[in-house]
Amino acid sequence: MKLGLGTAALGRPQYINLRSKQIENSDIESFKAHSFSVLESAYKLGVRYFDTAPGYGLAETLLLEWLQTKKDNTIEVATKWGYTYVANFDANAKVHEIKEHSLEKLKEQWAFSKQLLPNFKVYQIHSATLETGILENKPVLNYLAALKNGHGIRIGITTTGINQVEVIKKALDVHVDGGQLFDVFQVTYNMLDQSLKTISDVIINQNKSIVIKEALANGRVFRNENYAHYNDLYKVLERLANKYKVGVDAISLQFCAQTIQSSTVLSGASNTIQLQENLKAQNIQLLNNELEEITSFKIEADDYWKERKLLAWN
Ligand SMILES: NC(=O)c1ccc[n+]([C@@H]2O[C@H](COP(=O)([O-])OP(=O)(O)OC[C@H]3O[C@@H](n4cnc5c(N)ncnc54)[C@H](OP(=O)(O)O)[C@@H]3O)[C@@H](O)[C@H]2O)c1
Repeated sequence: MKLGLGTAALGRPQYINLRSKQIENSDIESFKAHSFSVLESAYKLGVRYFDTAPGYGLAETLLLEWLQTKKDNTIEVATKWGYTYVANFDANAKVHEIKEHSLEKLKEQWAFSKQLLPNFKVYQIHSATLETGILENKPVLNYLAALKNGHGIRIGITTTGINQVEVIKKALDVHVDGGQLFDVFQVTYNMLDQSLKTISDVIINQNKSIVIKEALANGRVFRNENYAHYNDLYKVLERLANKYKVGVDAISLQFCAQTIQSSTVLSGASNTIQLQENLKAQNIQLLNNELEEITSFKIEADDYWKERKLLAWN
């Protein structure tokens, strides 16, 4: 199992998730020091894949600073372009990020992100959708192809929402100068939204990489009295957690890894303790009947994303 660290929770104090308690993050200097220490712990614990984005506030800057203390070419960094963080660390901000899929934004964000080279290995369109026409935007696609050839990086997309599979299908068909442009697909997948399963073999058979995000359904896999409709799922996860002597997070991450072969699964840990717990997934192997049991809890993508939309920035 390959586990990567997502840096959404390390670069900005608020992000979309379910939080059992409010976290005091108002002192930016101590927030940064904390995030730096989580990157360092991840490295010591063997993590070598880090996912970031300009939309994650300070995350790219922090990662850049931290990489300079490492000089290790086994570290792989994946970043994105297309969202700008605008909340300015204000917990009460009404708008946290602005999406803009234009050639100008790509050039602007590349100019900063390229400093992550040579560890920079994957460049992704952040939340590619059919609506913005990004997968038909020739100037953007040509620019990405030039970056791919010029810097030996792999180009990818991230997907979100009910039509992830449709977007992936369309992206697999994007060719520039006769070759497929996209090699990496970062997709939301967990026991609730399993739509990726319907296309994962196609992606893998074309020698592309799958990166799984939101494997813990933004915290919804943990027992929560506001989600009583998942009580049966909670019971199964807790029974397995007990059996394997890990948390339900490790069970959920391992479920993703075993059901989507050769994927990289992102941990969204916001501190070292969570990360250590998440990494315990690497020491267990679920049985087929246990995978089937968990699989049976899938819900319609429509319902999944309706519920996801109701989650607040915490
Ligand atoms: N491309 C995109 O549009 C996109 C969207 C979302 C995520 N991502 C990427 O995917 C990464 C992971 O996604 P995610 O942040 O949504 O991840 P997730 O794994 O679905 O959820 C993370 C949540 O799980 C909680 N958690 C993790 N381990 C825990 C533990 N042992 N005990 C208690 N709570 C625990 C965190 O707690 P706290 O509440 O304490 O923080 C957080 O609420 C991100 O960092 C980012 O790199 C990309």
